[in-house]
Amino acid sequence: MKALVYNGPRDVRVKEVPDAKIERPTDVLVKITSTNICGSDLHMYEGRTDMEKGRVLGHENLGQVVEVGEAVDRIKVGDWVCLPFNIACGFCKNCERGLTGFCLTTNPGTAGAAYGFAGMGPYSGGQAEYLRVPYADFNCLKLPDDAQGKENDYVMLSDIFPTGWHATELAGVKPGESVVIYGCGPVGLMAAHSAMIKGASKVIIVDLHPDRLALAEQIGAIAIDYSKGSAVEQILELTDGEGADRGCECVGYQCHDPAGHEVPNATMNDLVKSVRATGGIGVVGVFIPEDPGSRDKLAKKGKIVFDFGLFWIKGQHIATGQANVKAYNRYLRDLIHADRAKPSWIVSHELALDEAPEAYKHFDARDNGWTKVILHPAGAQKNPKRQSTQKKAVRKEAAHAHSPV
Ligand SMILES: NC(=O)c1ccc[n+]([C@@H]2O[C@H](COP(=O)([O-])OP(=O)(O)OC[C@H]3O[C@@H](n4cnc5c(N)ncnc54)[C@H](O)[C@@H]3O)[C@@H](O)[C@H]2O)c1
Ligand SMILES: [Zn+2]
Ligand SMILES: [Zn+2]
Repeated sequence: MKALVYNGPRDVRVKEVPDAKIERPTDVLVKITSTNICGSDLHMYEGRTDMEKGRVLGHENLGQVVEVGEAVDRIKVGDWVCLPFNIACGFCKNCERGLTGFCLTTNPGTAGAAYGFAGMGPYSGGQAEYLRVPYADFNCLKLPDDAQGKENDYVMLSDIFPTGWHATELAGVKPGESVVIYGCGPVGLMAAHSAMIKGASKVIIVDLHPDRLALAEQIGAIAIDYSKGSAVEQILELTDGEGADRGCECVGYQCHDPAGHEVPNATMNDLVKSVRATGGIGVVGVFIPEDPGSRDKLAKKGKIVFDFGLFWIKGQHIATGQANVKAYNRYLRDLIHADRAKPSWIVSHELALDEAPEAYKHFDARDNGWTKVILHPAGAQKNPKRQSTQKKAVRKEAAHAHSPV
């Protein structure tokens, strides 16, 4: 089959690789029709992880089941399914409590497994024609009969929509509260969408890419361009000097200053300053235990200089980690089905698998207009003309989806 293979820093190639196949009776095989490129793929693409050469990338996958293992009960050939990026067993101590991002079975020795991901087990990714899905009865999210019509929405259930939602859960967002989000990439935009759906009174989002900030404005968020002045000061001004009730970190360890120089503690310390005393901070942007590729001495060892004193004095709390996608995806699916959520408004490109190397280049450079790329390994690229008119309609609906829920 054809698949996108990691071949070293900033070098990915579409190649013939051995076919994905059923390996255990609890597996299913899925023909991938949509698979996204994620900001998490970029950490690997840039050579900032210990990703092994030759591995197939792709953890945001949706498709149709083409084969089921002997021990699979619930999932049938022909089902349309979206796969959480976490691969979980469903029966370990953490899975039992809904913490499927920290499954103790699927990546023994650590907690948490994923498709095509550095340090998260040997599993192949879905930027490929087919994907093997372990513990399929547990991991597959079945999609309703509008699966194909809303494929661009449902594919966001594999990762970024639940991850954005998770950021707001970790921060403790409640109706009527104000929320500040650092990072207006796909994850930050999904955190904004989630905060709106939850009934936040004010959603403020920080980045420096005008195209991304404009997408956030389309759903009613207040955009702050931190290249045009201190984000913290602008947030304090917007919140009567108090700071926002809640803060979300949606950038991660490669956060940088306006000139593009990485400052690994920038967003965490800005959040402590931007969130009010006793407020909550949810951190879904990835931070890693070792980052040998960093220029920062401490960051090489996975450490940052953190304003702990201010954090303590303000009585804030922080919660962190990979999103437990299964804790939310069923409910977010139903919001999409009911037209109360429309995550596809951020999709900028739908491309064939062969175009993936080019797409990685543009997305990695955060080139203007490259917000979220969906690859369609099983089919031709959709008609760009139809896409642009569709998109206008989608944006309208996304705004509508936020009207009081
Ligand atoms: N916890 C999880 O389960 C999970 C899941 C998916 C992605 N992630 C992580 O979330 C993060 C964001 O993912 P994405 O797909 O949106 O990536 P992205 O790289 O496309 O977006 C990050 C955005 O942050 C902005 N940024 C950089 N420095 C900043 C700063 N100092 N202040 C404000 N904004 C700044 C960038 O301009 C960019 O637009 C990544 O670290 C990714 O690995 C985590
Ligand atoms: Zn992802
Ligand atoms: Zn488990």
